[in-house]
Amino acid sequence: MYSFQSDYLEGCAPAILEELIKANSRQSEGYGLDEYCAEAGELIKKAIGRDDADVHFIPGGTPCNILAISSALRPHEAVIAASTGHISVHETGAIEATGHKVIELDSKDGKVNPLDVIRVCEEHGDEHMVKPRMLFVSNPTELGTIYTLKEVKLLREICNRYGLYFYLDGARLANALAYAGNDLSLEDIADIFDVFYIGGTKNGALLGEALVIVNDELKPEFRYQIKQKGQMLAKGRIMGINFRTLFTNDLYLDLAKHANKTAAALKYVFGALNVREYVDSPTNQIFVILDDRVIDKLHENYGFLVWRKYDENRSICRFVTSWNTREEAILEFAQDLREALK
Ligand SMILES: Cc1ncc(COP(=O)(O)O)c(C=O)c1O
Repeated sequence: MYSFQSDYLEGCAPAILEELIKANSRQSEGYGLDEYCAEAGELIKKAIGRDDADVHFIPGGTPCNILAISSALRPHEAVIAASTGHISVHETGAIEATGHKVIELDSKDGKVNPLDVIRVCEEHGDEHMVKPRMLFVSNPTELGTIYTLKEVKLLREICNRYGLYFYLDGARLANALAYAGNDLSLEDIADIFDVFYIGGTKNGALLGEALVIVNDELKPEFRYQIKQKGQMLAKGRIMGINFRTLFTNDLYLDLAKHANKTAAALKYVFGALNVREYVDSPTNQIFVILDDRVIDKLHENYGFLVWRKYDENRSICRFVTSWNTREEAILEFAQDLREALK
């Protein structure tokens, strides 16, 4: 059995494990006030070109979203997101549970359409409706697609016009950055977004995400928010060690390059066997349309997500590669797929 279900199915990159072992018997402060978190924060600030940013290490993506959104919005304010966005469909109503509506915009490729953002802002004109106050995007999106610099600049202009904070969920940001065709750098992201997070869990970290706050308005008392929402780990140093290692010697990008490369190989396999992609993803999540009969056969030996029905007899499936996906696994899968398609 081999699984393409997701990119967090393995432990962590060996370099991180080595650093964890080295640090194991040393004592350090708790709750993210240790030297590892401090050094990791400095490395991240250098990588994004912003000395003035605040960096907080948070255990997972959902808590980053809860914290970034609920701490920025007043009770009557809402966040806009694509209908495929993680906060829209895969967080068990976590954002709504903090009292903030998620206004969903239809999306086929995972991105938000700028005209829809304008429409929603124009439609929410008075106090009888929630007030849109933040725009949420993820890059790569939940469908593996990525935004260009031009696209996010346009969305930023719209945010400025309508008084929206602009937030980036970067659970798989490394996979966007590592794609050769990407033109949106970490520095651009820090210039354009008010707050964003750099994902570690899905890119070879044992756990953790680095939540970066650039807008001064959103910085005060953020550690109170982290603690109150139960996300301040006593052993926060684990995340510091993870991110210090990821941001040393380009490990962060190298791990994502491997995931993207094996995804590209998988994409090639599907293409060669005439399996159609649902959307053209350049990163490590590949969406293809498969007959349900083929899915059943493949599931005997492979894990992968059946994302949603495409039509009566076919479904859209998601295959994800990781920093640790073996090339032999792709070759074996190619043979098994050929058999299953017969
Ligand atoms: C884009 C995106 N955001 C947030 C999350 C949530 O992360 P977690 O499962 O760590 O809460 C995920 C997880 O798959 C994700 O893909």
